[in-house]
Amino acid sequence: MIKAEILQQTRLFVEESLQKAEAGHDWWHIKRVTTLAMDMAGETAADVFVTEMACLLHDIGDAKFHDGNENIGPALIKNFLQTQAIDKETVDKIMFIIEHMSFRKSDSFFGEKSIEFQLVQDADRLDSIGAIGIARAFSFGGFKGRPFYDPEKEAPTATYQSGQSATINHFYEKLLKLKDLMNTESGKKRAEARHAFMLQFLDQFYLEWDGKV
Ligand code: ADP
Ligand code: NI
Repeated sequence: MIKAEILQQTRLFVEESLQKAEAGHDWWHIKRVTTLAMDMAGETAADVFVTEMACLLHDIGDAKFHDGNENIGPALIKNFLQTQAIDKETVDKIMFIIEHMSFRKSDSFFGEKSIEFQLVQDADRLDSIGAIGIARAFSFGGFKGRPFYDPEKEAPTATYQSGQSATINHFYEKLLKLKDLMNTESGKKRAEARHAFMLQFLDQFYLEWDGKV
């Protein structure tokens, strides 16, 4: 089977699997991440097939939507890849990226990252910041029934709050940290602009919260 066909089959599989997904994790997230990674890949020697496949499959069976079970996603993806004519080495490259790229896991992953890994991770992180990142955070918070902000209950902290903390806290525990975690030069450049936009958003958010503007 030629790569273009495998990619097409994969797009269909992913689009179908994500039909009921929450807005922050839907097919549009996958499309944006793929577009970003492919655009940035143009400046590198990355294997574009591995890069695009990892982008397409990276959020299938996300543990967050399976009661924290981290085995469901990889199993679903492996089962799918087995239906495609892809050599084992390529499957392993794709699986490695998907299994090691999430923020919490990669916090403790200090191994060597392939250029494809770096691109997919940067693209996924870029989609978590800037205007889209803000929209995704509040969509996720709404999905979980969380308040935007709760200044009486807690001041925002940089430590990860796994409980019912307000969505504003997510900026400090994760979103504002992503700029410094970019792997590639093009990722860093894009992250700077998105980061600046989030800071501007937060300034305005607090001003409006206090009725100052
Ligand atoms: P991905 O799987 O795309 O790498 P995550 O699964 O970590 O990203 O999160 C998906 C989206 O939901 C991101 O935009 C992320 O910032 C947001 N999100 C994750 N956890 C929270 C949270 N506790 N509060 C608000 N938004 C969150
Ligand atoms: Ni993602």
